[in-house]
Amino acid sequence: MARSSLTVPSKLDALSHEPWKHFPQVREEDHTSAKDDVWQKQARFQEMARTLEAATGELVVASKVQPYKASNLGPAVQKVEDACSACHKEFRDH
Ligand code: HEC
Repeated sequence: MARSSLTVPSKLDALSHEPWKHFPQVREEDHTSAKDDVWQKQARFQEMARTLEAATGELVVASKVQPYKASNLGPAVQKVEDACSACHKEFRDH
């Protein structure tokens, strides 16, 4: 993930509210890396989506603290990355 651009966090925040729209309740595509679990474990998937939203929200808050400090942003970025990979481990098929 790009860490250099300071505009990333707010874009991320917007993004974190978007992707879930693209996951329909019923599986309709063949070419997807999403596991069937995404559709079979909607509650868990949504929970992890909320975790990501919370993490990106915190990152946005952290990114507004001036002056920028690695000690402030680092953990927030890590939390977002953890939320990404936790869900990928569970729901992405590669
Ligand atoms: C709630 C679950 C979940 C979270 C959280 C999540 N993802 Fe994903 N992501 C998926 C699933 C499922 C796929 C596979 C979708 C598909 O292939 O249709 C995917 C695919 C991707 C892909 C495409 C890679 C590919 O193989 O096509 C990228 C890039 C990606 N995610 C980035 C991120 C980033 C960055 C974050 C954190 C900011 C994130 N994801 C958080 C579930 C999640």
